[in-house]
Amino acid sequence: METNEYIERKRNEHLTDLYEFLRIPSISAQAEHKQDVERAAQWVADRLRRVGLDAVEIVQTKMHPLVYGQSLKAPGKPTVLFYGHYDVQPPEPLELWTSPAFEPTVRDGNLYGRGTADDKGQVHIHIRALDALRQTEGTLPINLKVIIEGEEEVGSENLWDYVNHNKSKLKADALVVSDTAMLAPGVPSITYGLRGLNYHQVDIIGPAQDLHSGVFGGAVPNPLTILTELFATLHDKNFRVTVPGFYDDVAVVSRAERKALNALPFKEKEFRKTVGAPALCGEKGYTVVEQLWCRPTLELNGIWGGYIGEGAKTVIPSKSHAKFSTRLVPYQDPVKIARLVERHIRKLIPKQVTCNFQLLSSGKPWVAPYTHPFFEVAHRALETGFGERAVFIREGGSIPFVTQMHDTFKVPCLLLGFGLPDENAHAPDEHILLENYFGGIKAMANFYQGLGKL
Ligand code: BES
Ligand code: MN
Ligand code: MN
Repeated sequence: METNEYIERKRNEHLTDLYEFLRIPSISAQAEHKQDVERAAQWVADRLRRVGLDAVEIVQTKMHPLVYGQSLKAPGKPTVLFYGHYDVQPPEPLELWTSPAFEPTVRDGNLYGRGTADDKGQVHIHIRALDALRQTEGTLPINLKVIIEGEEEVGSENLWDYVNHNKSKLKADALVVSDTAMLAPGVPSITYGLRGLNYHQVDIIGPAQDLHSGVFGGAVPNPLTILTELFATLHDKNFRVTVPGFYDDVAVVSRAERKALNALPFKEKEFRKTVGAPALCGEKGYTVVEQLWCRPTLELNGIWGGYIGEGAKTVIPSKSHAKFSTRLVPYQDPVKIARLVERHIRKLIPKQVTCNFQLLSSGKPWVAPYTHPFFEVAHRALETGFGERAVFIREGGSIPFVTQMHDTFKVPCLLLGFGLPDENAHAPDEHILLENYFGGIKAMANFYQGLGKL
């Protein structure tokens, strides 16, 4: 049977298998799910074996295991390293899910559940593409190495150790990743840029303990007030980050690239609808696409301290806390930016309090040319899967592994994503458009076939 026909006929089988994967709550951030993470790794290893990969192993790390497998039976053909992650974000707040996060459910042509888009659904696209190739052609048309990790959502800290110790084993002619989104439904997309990320926590410590705000208020420092006043100064009226030196190394995007990016079928109206706020705001002088993909940001991600329970409690908290992050673009260096940000914030903190600073995770930005012949193969494969020519996009999200691999192996990185921007990754009611899931299987099977014919 022809591969595409096989993929079409097995739609139900693809889905039942994916449901099994999605039902495992492999939440890497929560210690109580350690065994579920383990179980997901085993599930992936089992599937890699079933689709004919050899040397499949579950590699233990300091935190969560990663899964490796390979098939090196096509001498003279290209070798591809495929990367994905089987861990997922926490599903909270649970009450905002229409159907439970770990009970995959189809509604209106979408499959709902944590991990459907980010990234189990997309990893599964590759598993099913490999299965289809095995069933219809008997062998894989290329050489393949696969790493599916379990710590992407918490920063991929231990993955890097593994890569550094296994450089020759992982060597390949290209890296393939499906962990990004398409620009819009019906617009297959190849991502050639990601932002980098620094994630910080700052704790401000004032009085030795919480204090009665009537008895003490007016004469003592309030860490919560100090924190909020501080963060209020980190952007100016044009929404630029006020940290000195923050923009020093930011690459000026060429006029040609700006033109190409702004000519993409990006629908600002759709974007506004997805956001759902009364209005947008962003750095002055840049289009939304440029703000999202080409400009760095600083965002508060969480802030806490003091009393937030029922009723009133007149208290001056002894401490306050904030989690915040910067998204980085070429040629900002995460280490340098982290230092600038910390130095600036420390300078703004008055002497009445002390502060703790932590850098919780860090990853470099990535932008790369897309001229290698493999991109033409990807183009044709996406056209087969989706019936449309693909566009080249950048994205605002971060996948630290991609930059690390690109720096280490200097090989083309093909980011072929099958999510959509409004599919609620990291949020309640995460979903994937079923047509993109099935189209993705066809595209990837076709991609591997195409590489085999080069
Ligand atoms: N798949 C995403 C990254 C992504 C999302 C790239 C959308 C492009 C478009 C990945 O799982 C993710 O969430 N990454 C984190 C960073 C990580 C270090 C926690 C992110 O971007 O916040
Ligand atoms: Mn992801
Ligand atoms: Mn994610």
